[in-house]
Amino acid sequence: MNSIRIFAPATVANVACGFDILGFALCSPGDEISIEFNNLHKIILHDNTPYHLPLEAEKNVTAVALQSMLDALKTNQGFTITFLQKIMPGSGVGSSAASSAAGVFGANELLDKPFTRNNLVQFAMQGERIASGSAHADNVAPALLGGFTLVRSYTPLDVISLPSPTIYATVVHPQIEVRTSDSRKILRHEIPIKKAVEQWGNVAGLVTGLFTNDYALIGRSLQDVIVEPVRALLIPEFYTIKQAALDAGALGCSISGSGPSLFALSETEKTAQKVAAAMQQGFTNIGIDNHVFVSPINKEGTRVV
Ligand code: HSE
Repeated sequence: MNSIRIFAPATVANVACGFDILGFALCSPGDEISIEFNNLHKIILHDNTPYHLPLEAEKNVTAVALQSMLDALKTNQGFTITFLQKIMPGSGVGSSAASSAAGVFGANELLDKPFTRNNLVQFAMQGERIASGSAHADNVAPALLGGFTLVRSYTPLDVISLPSPTIYATVVHPQIEVRTSDSRKILRHEIPIKKAVEQWGNVAGLVTGLFTNDYALIGRSLQDVIVEPVRALLIPEFYTIKQAALDAGALGCSISGSGPSLFALSETEKTAQKVAAAMQQGFTNIGIDNHVFVSPINKEGTRVV
């Protein structure tokens, strides 16, 4: 085998209370690439998407992630990657993470799997460093592993797969631009202990809810008292739209990753569709174009097509 096609899914990072540590994967949208060996000892990139992706290897997240994996293997094997389908960059559903995950996963397959999926997270993270200035793993971990994931520690890296109950995500992407690097810069660096206590309680509550299939507990725990209040300022009418989602029956609603997308979780697909309509109407009411989609949790993660 010397050529392969790979799909890597969109992801929702943070999941309200878990800034930089929690995430889950969606069934769609996602990235699709083809990857093959070349004899040129370098990474060659082609772009068949409408997004004018950077094709210099040192500026492209997929190539940076893949190069970190090749460096760890001490190999100068060349690869040619063609981007076939791409999540819209800057939407807040892990576009750069999907690209990084697809590249390292595909090369790992072609090289006869020197690494486990879990081990690939450390390489895919390197793509996030050039995309946003920080090598966070809360998008790349669920993109690679599927389901809900927890980054228990960054040093050393310790990524845990959590149980994924049957639950439906609604994601609304308003057509406004929020760059991850900018929405990280505005965060406060000091947290009052009282807020930290609330956040710890919610993280533990959410993880417990996932383990016990307790939807009410999941709903109560989908609260972010640290990051959301700051980033909400970047999203017009954030609180109105969040309330519309909750009124339509969502268990909880917050910002997807660094925004501008919002996500909500619902117990049934029917509710998730009602929530989608309510959130969409919220943005339409203030004249902001938006895309909405509903997805179950993707339990498989990155895969060969
Ligand atoms: N945890 C990251 C953030 C996800 O919120 O900045 C964005 O990719």
